[in-house]
Amino acid sequence: SGRVFSGIQPTGVPHLGNYLGALENWVSLQNQYSSVLYSIVDLHSITQPKDPALLRNNILDMAASLLACGVDPERAILFQQSQVSEHSELSWILGCLTSMPRLRHLPQWKVKSKQKNEGSVGLYTYPVLQAADILLYKSTHVPVGEDQVQHLDLAQDLARIFNYHYGDVFPEARALLSSTRKVKSLRDPSAKMSKSDTQAMATISITDSPDDIALKIRRAVTDFTSEVTFDPETRPGVSNLVTIHAAMATITVQEAVSRAKGLDTGAYKTLVSEAVIQRLTPIREEFQRLRADRAHLQNLLELGNRRARELAAPVMAEVRHRVGFS
Ligand code: TYM
Repeated sequence: SGRVFSGIQPTGVPHLGNYLGALENWVSLQNQYSSVLYSIVDLHSITQPKDPALLRNNILDMAASLLACGVDPERAILFQQSQVSEHSELSWILGCLTSMPRLRHLPQWKVKSKQKNEGSVGLYTYPVLQAADILLYKSTHVPVGEDQVQHLDLAQDLARIFNYHYGDVFPEARALLSSTRKVKSLRDPSAKMSKSDTQAMATISITDSPDDIALKIRRAVTDFTSEVTFDPETRPGVSNLVTIHAAMATITVQEAVSRAKGLDTGAYKTLVSEAVIQRLTPIREEFQRLRADRAHLQNLLELGNRRARELAAPVMAEVRHRVGFS
């Protein structure tokens, strides 16, 4: 028993890191838990202002992507965060329980506020909104990649702090990490694969063409040893390819390394590309089919929004009462 919740920013189309770190897990969890919510977190996506037409488009593309990856709206409530206003309301209440120093060291703020010189208040309190997303549904399990673990720690702290002040309302939600919890950039294996990367060659989108996938993997940074081994510390580039190969071919890392016996890294890259292409081709085709029908995607989200509101309303009523608003 329990309730699964997770979210993804509406960046249009997810990359391989999103897929292996989170989405693959989302799909398997919807068959294991009876109550599952997946949210397209548009409120989180405006910490840096976005073009409204582009955002609108990206929300529907993300919906199509999630469906193409296997998220099933019969099993999971797929919805748009901003359309359930309780997220913002609970975020305010939790923000009043969060100290400023607690947020200062979280990675999002540390990295992005530096890039921008001055970060916004929204960027700073972003993890509080994320905690509100999770707690609003009294979620117990949250499938995410490794980069979100510190945000999950904050959500647990805030559940505890709220319960301490106002009485027992929220369970502590646990992060569920996939076996591929961190996919690295193809251009810089010391960094994670990230949609904000400006180098197109660094990330593989789940809808990339076979040619693009092959090119990006061919160009992936490795090192000067031609043999293939798995050693993330000393050989992060090759090891990232082994990780991707194993995950996409659904074999173990050991099996992937043994399939690379006798191949140099150049030849091995062909093997990795084949595994990635084989796995992503049906997803790309399904995405292209689904994205064409904007009205259908919109309707699906609206249905999900309604179901999410039905779950959020009683929890928020309980919170308002506990806090003393009613
Ligand atoms: P976002 O949109 O950046 O990423 C979505 C999911 O993909 C995972 N991920 C990765 N996993 C492995 N390797 C990578 N290189 C990689 N890059 C991304 C992320 O860990 C995430 O699981 N703040 C969140 C969205 C969010 C959320 C929530 C998540 C908002 N509210 C509540 C869980 C619960 C984010 O920006 O994810």
